[in-house]
Amino acid sequence: MLKAWWRLRRALSEATPLLQAGDYWLEEGAARRLVTDSDNWRLHPRRFRITGPPSSGPGYDTVIRRSGCLILLGEGRDHVLRLYRDQGEVDRLMTNSRWLRPAFPCPAAETVPVELPGWFGVREDFVSGRILRDAASNRWVPIYRKFLGCCAVNATRCEGRLETKGWFNELDSWSSPPQVHQLLSFWHDELVEILDGAPLLRSHGDAHNGNLIVTEEGDLVVIDVERVEAQPFFFDALSILRGSEEVNQHLRRRYLSGLFDNELMAVWQAAGERFWPELRIPYLLAVAVCHAFRPQFADGPAHRRQEKLVKAVQKVQADCESGRPSC
Ligand SMILES: Nc1ncnc2c1ncn2[C@@H]1O[C@H](COP(=O)(O)OP(=O)(O)O)[C@@H](O)[C@H]1O
Ligand SMILES: [Mg+2]
Repeated sequence: MLKAWWRLRRALSEATPLLQAGDYWLEEGAARRLVTDSDNWRLHPRRFRITGPPSSGPGYDTVIRRSGCLILLGEGRDHVLRLYRDQGEVDRLMTNSRWLRPAFPCPAAETVPVELPGWFGVREDFVSGRILRDAASNRWVPIYRKFLGCCAVNATRCEGRLETKGWFNELDSWSSPPQVHQLLSFWHDELVEILDGAPLLRSHGDAHNGNLIVTEEGDLVVIDVERVEAQPFFFDALSILRGSEEVNQHLRRRYLSGLFDNELMAVWQAAGERFWPELRIPYLLAVAVCHAFRPQFADGPAHRRQEKLVKAVQKVQADCESGRPSC
């Protein structure tokens, strides 16, 4: 925790020329300017004082620190500024944004010069609303349906086929918990069938419940386009069903009972494939396998991949056992 604060303090001092003057309160990974001020806290280690107005522009009052990136929220909440150390990162983000926007409602983004030596910036429209997991539960199903509609548009742009190479040999060699092993063995042939040669699609790659925003009007906006990568065409569509929050379980159970079959058929059809309702469970397992073997984990230790997979499979299993479809 101390280390995280230290890094955040360093980020604040670097970004100082762009920040509104005032006292900032440091939380995990983010610092916000305090609206009311009290000198009692002046020496608190979670406080950071910035004096003098920003050197130019309207100024920012919130700094979110991520590895390799700072996200600054504009004081008027009309835009955010993403700062990177590397022009290559900015180019990648812009390429991702241009790719996704014809299919997904992502905020407009443009590169902008910033007055911080050694930093490169992207200005993005501010999205106001609630992240999906914090939105009212009666919004979850309609928003997921909208998201699936976007996935069907994206799926018309598949390119290439997945080669699973050594994935299944590695999977077979793991000694997973018995129930996980049992489920994976039961669906082994279907998993190979689903994954090997699946049409590949440049996907959002991180479509979890914190990156889908529900606006006040009930519209969907998709943020965080940093992780666009080639995945089987159904990866984004089923990603939201992997998480462990209430919203994920709510949607996963409804998916398993067939509520989204029509939307999913459209996704499969757009990719030139056919959706089989009886394969709903192995489709979920397939996403878990792809997640475990995604590029960021591919070169790492096998136990990390196994950990990811086991957790995801256990969630599917728990929902299967709760009286709904049998696994
Ligand atoms: N365009 C945006 N509009 C409003 N808030 C944003 C926007 N982009 C990012 N944020 C805020 O910053 C947080 C982190 O951004 P995100 O791109 O999702 O990075 P990460 O997933 O790495 O935390 C979001 O949860 C949201 O609160
Ligand atoms: Mg995010």
